[in-house]
Amino acid sequence: MKVLIVKDYEEMSRKAANIVASQIILKPDSVIGLATGDTPKGMYRELIKLYNNGDIDFANIKTFNLDEYYGLPKENPQSYHYYMMENLFKHVNIKKENIHIPNGMAENIEKECEEYEKKIQQAGGIDLQVLGIGRNGHIGFNEPDLKFEAKAHLVELDEDTIKANSRFFNSIQEVPTKAISMGIKTIMHAKKIVLLASGKEKAEAIYKAVKGEITPKVPASVLQLHPDVILIADEEAASLL
Ligand code: F6R
Repeated sequence: MKVLIVKDYEEMSRKAANIVASQIILKPDSVIGLATGDTPKGMYRELIKLYNNGDIDFANIKTFNLDEYYGLPKENPQSYHYYMMENLFKHVNIKKENIHIPNGMAENIEKECEEYEKKIQQAGGIDLQVLGIGRNGHIGFNEPDLKFEAKAHLVELDEDTIKANSRFFNSIQEVPTKAISMGIKTIMHAKKIVLLASGKEKAEAIYKAVKGEITPKVPASVLQLHPDVILIADEEAASLL
């Protein structure tokens, strides 16, 4: 794993955006895996700037998001569909049919997960996957567990994740307790991975992911086995390395 320690959130966001932008320039029909949450918001802002400057073109880009809450309709402002529209998609020229986010309202979740995996394979797999990390070491919504879950699946969210994500909701009761997440195998099949982390509250997870034992109890630790991962962490997130 390459580790890039940067000063702060802004520098992390610029560096991450530059990596995504170079992927888009080098392969204009790239398949890009995307994350939500607070961490990549600055990267999306930078990508929009690069798009507005004419430096990158999303016309032939395909995207696959890591996850979506179970039971939240697309129009719900807390859904990851809504987040992606607001933070990136409505600002760039990506084609609607090239955007993929699991459908948290699907009647048959198992089928939805299988089809999501199939679509990723049909697109040729993910060229570049952007990841954030949970305080408990989760990637996507692959929570600490006794085994790595290979494929897209329905997850019971950890109490810690529900607590962490309650900051986006009016109350903790409103946070969905389940989500659909891309599996670890699918993430590990991405040709390149950029892992982003900012802030003191991520320091322990980053330490365990980079230097700890490889274990499903810290899902991000599996990234140590991937041949092309770059971690961009700000000084606070990297403070225990
Ligand atoms: C979101 C995702 C999660 C987040 C993680 C960190 O799509 O996959 O793994 O990356 O929960 O969230 P933030 O960035 O809000 O700290």
